[in-house]
Amino acid sequence: MKRYKHLAWIWVAVMGVLLLAFAIPARVLAHGPSKGGANTDAIDGLFNITLWIAIPVFLLVEGLIIYAIIRYRRRSASEDPEQVHGNTSLEITWTILSFVIVAVLFALTVRALQTDYEVDAQNEDNEPDYTVEVTGYMFNWDYRYYYGDGTSPTDDTKVIKTRYLTLPAEEAVLLKITSTDVQHSFWVPDLAGKVDAIPGYVNTMWLQIDDGFIGETVPGNCAEYCGTLHYNMLIDVNVLSSDDFAAWLASEESQVGAPIGTDLETPLPMGDFERGEQVFTANACSACHAPEDQVAGPGLNRIMRDANTHEGYTVEEHLRESILDPCAYLTEGWDVCSMPQNYGEKLTAQELADLIEYLKEY
Ligand code: CUA
Repeated sequence: MKRYKHLAWIWVAVMGVLLLAFAIPARVLAHGPSKGGANTDAIDGLFNITLWIAIPVFLLVEGLIIYAIIRYRRRSASEDPEQVHGNTSLEITWTILSFVIVAVLFALTVRALQTDYEVDAQNEDNEPDYTVEVTGYMFNWDYRYYYGDGTSPTDDTKVIKTRYLTLPAEEAVLLKITSTDVQHSFWVPDLAGKVDAIPGYVNTMWLQIDDGFIGETVPGNCAEYCGTLHYNMLIDVNVLSSDDFAAWLASEESQVGAPIGTDLETPLPMGDFERGEQVFTANACSACHAPEDQVAGPGLNRIMRDANTHEGYTVEEHLRESILDPCAYLTEGWDVCSMPQNYGEKLTAQELADLIEYLKEY
């Protein structure tokens, strides 16, 4: 009998160590609602307090369960376990203790809710330092940058970038979020909560990113199931210092060439394979086009087979039309045209030439 009792305590110790081993990384693994957005310290603080109250409660409850299982187990087939009926002082204790915990959390939550989550610009003059139009579509995002609120005629700087959203720290940025097809949701957990991207409707999000994020790429993703490649609708936010961002935006502005539009005739400049690969990545073409066929889009090998056999077309003409006017020719097996038809508004003649050069390798 004595030997078993000994064993039980060893078990309790082992389980306790295991539970602690789970509890300690909890803070590291657990994700607070947001860290870098406008005045979100209060929410993050509340999350931490709740977590640190929850860990001892969890350990106590699980520990007692394990203790009870061992201590009050049936020791032989004929034995009835000890029967216990109520314990008034224990019941009063846990009722008061639970009430105190809930009351404390309630008070802290009410206090956090009183916090002003709006950025300064939103409160004072409603004038952001920058405005970014965020447009979701299956299966990527477009970003278009404006100085100020983008409404004054001199502030209409437009830069279109895909895949990477570049933002300044410490500046008031207004994101105008929408969609061109189905419902998506813009979510970068470290910066702010989710905002839905809805066709025909513009939702806004104010950001004022902490300077601790400078130099980081903050990951996010579409948070509304929107189709087969929903998982691939990633959002990467490059955070720059205010000065670096201004320099970056100016350089993007100077580099932005006129988009080619639906021009299928004018000869293209010489393409470059390496740059073409970058264009392919930057526009997230791989979201739908892998070397082999995917549900979302025909494989690059098949597209090149089509390009080589399309009567009356050179390879270049076929690829150019397939990119700028993708619904004109549909690959066998993909009867519904689901490719965005606005790549002409994003690509310059040079980028198109580079992209074609890249595709020719398949
Ligand atoms: Cu877009 Cu999910």
